[in-house]
Amino acid sequence: MPPRAFPAWRDALPKDRVDVLHRWHALMVENADALDRLISLEQGKPFAEGRGEVMYGASYVAWFADEATRIYGDLIPQQQRGKRMSAIREPVGIVAAITPWNFPLAMIARKIAPALAAGCTVVGKPAEDTPLTALALVMLAHEAGVPTGVLNLISASRENAVPAVADWLADSRVRKITFTGSTPVGKYLARESAGTLKKLSLELGGNAPFIVFDDADLDAAVAGLLASKFRNGGQTCVCPNRVYVQSGVYERFADLLATRVAALKVAPATDPAAQIGPMINARAIDKIARHVDDAVSRGARVLTGGKRLPELGPTYYAPTVLADATHDMQLSCEETFGPVVPLFRFDDEAEAIRAANDTPFGLASYFYSQDVRRIDRVARQLEAGIVGINEGALASEAAPFGGVKESGYGREGSKYGLDDYLSIKYLCQGGLE
Ligand code: SIN
Repeated sequence: MPPRAFPAWRDALPKDRVDVLHRWHALMVENADALDRLISLEQGKPFAEGRGEVMYGASYVAWFADEATRIYGDLIPQQQRGKRMSAIREPVGIVAAITPWNFPLAMIARKIAPALAAGCTVVGKPAEDTPLTALALVMLAHEAGVPTGVLNLISASRENAVPAVADWLADSRVRKITFTGSTPVGKYLARESAGTLKKLSLELGGNAPFIVFDDADLDAAVAGLLASKFRNGGQTCVCPNRVYVQSGVYERFADLLATRVAALKVAPATDPAAQIGPMINARAIDKIARHVDDAVSRGARVLTGGKRLPELGPTYYAPTVLADATHDMQLSCEETFGPVVPLFRFDDEAEAIRAANDTPFGLASYFYSQDVRRIDRVARQLEAGIVGINEGALASEAAPFGGVKESGYGREGSKYGLDDYLSIKYLCQGGLE
């Protein structure tokens, strides 16, 4: 059976799609308090951060509403008399969007918005831990005027997550999959959808390095690390997972950092003073505890934290700084996805670059230095889709978000973000003379 909703949405005037997206954006902003509450209650990030996520997600909707009117083609300079060649860009078709729990609103917004802007229709599945925020967002989209059948959402339990999307993977009408989540699941989706050769955007795991050189502004580096590492309690794909500090500043940086981390307030999301809320579930907290225990058993020193906080609840973990981290520890090769900072020591630039790149992943990376030549060298050598230079807060709807190596492919946000939802059609018209 051919897709039913797609042809009309594809053929709508871009201006009509833009109006719907702008209305959706306005509704998100109008309902920011309710969405914020939902995010925090469902996912656990403190209210202030939940609000930030609503505005972050909404910014992608506004961005792609504007981009929808700029989907240009090309008239190719004439090659033969009587022949006109051009290239136009068309929506790929039905998009399957599969999203994670760590940003239950922003991740689905930044997939749906470009898909709708491009003229695609969407079938989506949010993570089993956080379906309610996604459902609320889709309800607002319908209120904004997204036609019936254009945007569809299902939810599934963890046990049913695979069967729930199996039909999409095999169905030739689904022309694209966009997924944010783990690398093993991304590889599974690529394998299982290969039979119908779908377009894929995969935003997968990271294992981000954060390098502090001897010549860094240490206060700025500590502030940047706090901002990037403890966002969403460390449950972010772009969170630094390995912090490399040059020997000359190692002890001073460790002291400054441990003092600031010890002062972070861990509390339920509903506490207005909370800076770190609960982790998402029991599996997450068990992994964090396993990484810390393994590191300590291999010689890491706990400068602060290093323990669960059962007095707050079963899924709270104290923000932790570990000194003397080494590469035989689990946390050096696996993402911890929690509030743990392991500090590795290095002596020279080449050693830092080698260590930073010694991972199958390549999503985000960060470094702090005040030497302009070093900044240029290191930025070019880091194998990552995103590099923070003397900056810990990288998220922006105007920037291309995505990785290299086993962190996946495709870009979200920015002027490049629509490309993954479009295909190029070459038109060759003869008989013009
Ligand atoms: C992610 O954790 O996958 C997304 C983080 C971001 O958008 O900055």
